[in-house]
Amino acid sequence: MATATSLPIPARRPRRLRRTDTLRRMVRETVLASEHLIYPLFITHEANTCRPIPSMPGNFHWSVDRVAAECETVAALGIPAVLLFGIPAEKDAVGAGAYDPHGVVQAAVREIKRVVPELLVITDVCLCEYTDHGHCGVVHEGAVLNDPTLRLLAETAVSHAEAGADIIAPSDMMDGRVAAIRHALDTAGFDEVPILSYAAKYASGFYGPFRDAAGSAPQFGDRRSYQMDPANRREAVKEVLLDIDEGADMVMVKPALAYLDIIREIKELTRIPVAAYNVSGEYSMLKAAAANGWIDGERVMLEILTGIRRAGADLIITYHAKEAAPLLRGDRA
Ligand code: PBG
Repeated sequence: MATATSLPIPARRPRRLRRTDTLRRMVRETVLASEHLIYPLFITHEANTCRPIPSMPGNFHWSVDRVAAECETVAALGIPAVLLFGIPAEKDAVGAGAYDPHGVVQAAVREIKRVVPELLVITDVCLCEYTDHGHCGVVHEGAVLNDPTLRLLAETAVSHAEAGADIIAPSDMMDGRVAAIRHALDTAGFDEVPILSYAAKYASGFYGPFRDAAGSAPQFGDRRSYQMDPANRREAVKEVLLDIDEGADMVMVKPALAYLDIIREIKELTRIPVAAYNVSGEYSMLKAAAANGWIDGERVMLEILTGIRRAGADLIITYHAKEAAPLLRGDRA
């Protein structure tokens, strides 16, 4: 048997740069900071409400009169933006609540911009939270119609901009929606309001907790005729190129974790900012495992967010934002 002294001595020692925390910090390749995070918020039509969402521990349904105080906390953590979703009092076949000038999201935007003007307010533009059938567009004889939906999405976007939204984020996956929204915004005098398009949005089981929270599960069928097939990579490139061509200022990949290769692909494809959506199911899986003591929730959260950044995301939309921000370096003092 060979003795230890006869073994070759390693000529290269990568461990040298891992020896102390300061060394590791100095050679770290990926920075995760609070300004990379966007915090989603659910706005309910009810008054004086902050109701926990059972499937998404730590997240709440906020009423318009209470959400601004929450946004002050978010801004103080160095998080630059929130993303708003609405839960209206009533739903109908054409999602009228989405483009109601006095709808929940429109009211929340006004209130947040009044109280915390420096916080960016991004609004999700889609019909599914507002339609009684739960689909993202107008339905006729069981089919989700593309072109008749475009006008409603454009109207929704303009109503959000009129309320003071800083960025418009269409998530419906209808063809041509970015061009339709850009045109409508420009015509209404909002040529300076950027579009963050959910460009590569997959038909995913990871949206389960969100659909519970927003009551937006489709009442028949599924979203596979408009959201993307999880098996496709080249199609994500096609969708992103189309959205950029139609005027998107930033593009999103959604979900994040099973699609890190897509994030990387899109990052290498384009020079515009790339966002990734760390969606509800990804969040809730972590919370469930952590609650059972199976993983260290805080450590895994930071590992996941760093991994999404390393894959190429400039921005991460995440329900972890409020928890993560205090643990990160930010540009504030
Ligand atoms: C609306 C929308 C959804 C999500 C964001 N915008 C639901 C869906 O497409 O079914 C999912 C967000 C999440 O799961 O965190 N179309």
